[in-house]
Amino acid sequence: MKEGTASYTARSVAARRLSYDRVAAPYGDPAADDALSRDVAAGMAPRPTPMHEYIRARTAFFDHAVVDAIARDITQVVIGGAGYDGRALRYARPGVRWFEVDHPATQADKRERLSRLGLDVAHIRFIPADFTADPVAGPLRGAGLDPARPALFLFEGVAVYLEAAVTERVLAGFRAVTTDAGLLAISISVGAATSQARARFRERVAEMGEPARTTLSFGQASDLLAAAGWEVTQPSERQRSAGLLLARAATAGRRERTSVTPAGGSGRPPATAAPDTERTRLTPGPPAASPAGRAAASPPASPPPADLPLSALLSQALVAFTIEADNEAEYRIAHRTTSHGLAPGAARGAPWLTSLLMWANCLRFLPDAGITVGELRDRARTGTNLDGMRRWRYVTYTPDPGPGKRPGPAAIITPTPSGIAARDIWQQVTADVEAHWRRRLGGGPFDALRSALTGLVGQLDPALPDCLPILGPGLVSGRDLRPAADPRSPGTLAPPPFRAAGLPLWALLSRPLLAFALQYEREPGPSLAISADILRVLTEAGVPVKEIPARGGVSKESVAIALGTLSKSGLVTEGPDPGGSRFRYARLTRSGALARDEYPVLAADIEADWRVRFGDDTITVLRQALEPLAAGDPAPLLAGLAPHPGNWRAHAKPLQVLPHYPMTLHRGGYPDGS
Ligand SMILES: C[S@@+](CC[C@H](N)C(=O)[O-])C[C@H]1O[C@@H](n2cnc3c(N)ncnc32)[C@H](O)[C@@H]1O
Repeated sequence: MKEGTASYTARSVAARRLSYDRVAAPYGDPAADDALSRDVAAGMAPRPTPMHEYIRARTAFFDHAVVDAIARDITQVVIGGAGYDGRALRYARPGVRWFEVDHPATQADKRERLSRLGLDVAHIRFIPADFTADPVAGPLRGAGLDPARPALFLFEGVAVYLEAAVTERVLAGFRAVTTDAGLLAISISVGAATSQARARFRERVAEMGEPARTTLSFGQASDLLAAAGWEVTQPSERQRSAGLLLARAATAGRRERTSVTPAGGSGRPPATAAPDTERTRLTPGPPAASPAGRAAASPPASPPPADLPLSALLSQALVAFTIEADNEAEYRIAHRTTSHGLAPGAARGAPWLTSLLMWANCLRFLPDAGITVGELRDRARTGTNLDGMRRWRYVTYTPDPGPGKRPGPAAIITPTPSGIAARDIWQQVTADVEAHWRRRLGGGPFDALRSALTGLVGQLDPALPDCLPILGPGLVSGRDLRPAADPRSPGTLAPPPFRAAGLPLWALLSRPLLAFALQYEREPGPSLAISADILRVLTEAGVPVKEIPARGGVSKESVAIALGTLSKSGLVTEGPDPGGSRFRYARLTRSGALARDEYPVLAADIEADWRVRFGDDTITVLRQALEPLAAGDPAPLLAGLAPHPGNWRAHAKPLQVLPHYPMTLHRGGYPDGS
């Protein structure tokens, strides 16, 4: 909370609620609640983001908690961090008393609005309190809360803004003024963001208003509640993953002190306040390392797979598959490279090497006799590097548009003899690599992976291409897509019948990754590729530009493109090493640091949205299948990455890090830039 300023987040939640259907009750004054929300929302137009859907579900959860409690004859409702929550109006019922505890600045603003709008608040008691400093139990009693009768306590959208220890103390204060029949409804932030990202996020936005401070796993939240005297009731999987929890007052004998370290914690010791006292002040932990002191040091350690966004898990698997296939293709296809010339045994007319992607978006669709460029586009549902494929000797065009020119959609694209050979070898290589994966992972885990992917892919848009598109300007994924061909319009091909279970593994990995990227890129800000691979590894103190490829697991070429884009948008500056070395440094600006910290938050939002749209189980089983592949040292995903000893790639620096989003550039995307 900014000193003396009403909560902005509370206003935005109220504005969103105007567009939700609310749980109905045969009492109360919904119009009064709406009038307050409209007053608060003036000028705010919430966008239909995943956050909007999350707050819709959260609102329904708390509405139900209130209506159910009132139906069970609970006659006291306490709203902690009430903001502009208008439930005391919407669900006003004779005989039910309401208590709103909130930060003085927000509460003063709310009361001014309620009074200006002439709304009846005689049944509500307002208790100003800054949770970080003020007690709540005494003032609640003082305001008339009867501790001998049960109450319902709401703590919606508040815990995320408080240190875990503060939340624990407030909840303990609530517990101190209710009976064993008391109830608590609370929302916690369960984002999959890494603790490092969370910590950075807190540091950067601390003075900008309302920093998100605490992310907890379900287990940590249960422990925190237990330490405060509350016992979580069994939530549904959906509530659990959305962090929407109901708890009963624990009886004194069952209360346990448990250590709680929030995932986004600052290294502070767990709360030490006794459950029924709120006087205890917390010992401040050691100060967080200064960003400058930390940032220029070694690259951040890779977070455990459970903390990685789903997109990063998919990316690592897809890139590992691609590298393995690229290595195998290098071994089997007679080819040449710019730096190494002709491969052993290759004839003089041999093509240059490309990556799996160029087979996936081009060669595999070409019959020996060729098809039109337009047909290729319809079949692939994304573009290919038309000029490159000709230059690299895989295809010819009739008529030939001439070097560097794009053939028109009616031109015939025909595979050369080398193209036909490469097409058929690639077909075999990808099938063989998939068989290697099955052998390496074991039939059970491999089948579980395929089946988990199939379960998700079957629910996605069938018109997605099987492979990732070549990234467009700004390294965005969504530029080069073609909507499903319209079977009614002459000259276009109907998409082939879609059966997710029949797709090869690389396509099963690519489709959800692309769907994730498209959703990510609907929000303003840098693309998923830039956010996940480049921004993620940058700091405000600066990172040597030459180290970025190794930190992000991507090519120099993609780093150069990303830094150009980031500099233009004011998120990064490039300059000399402050230490005086000859290496250039890339530094995040303040907005760059915020954009970096948005990545795990937005990725977690999308994952939460997918759980709602595609089913909790769908995402849970997919995570269960993907996480073990990235866990351990070395992770199973790295097991198949070694090139054949005779390959020229065998002399390249071995790859240490798999990217969190594949950098699919003009030639394909093998991270060494080949
Ligand atoms: C996102 S709003 C949620 C408001 C309300 N519960 C709702 O769902 O509409 C967060 C609320 O927490 C309150 N808050 C944040 N920090 C606080 C603190 N230190 N003490 C008291 N209230 C605080 C703000 O005033 C604000 O009302």
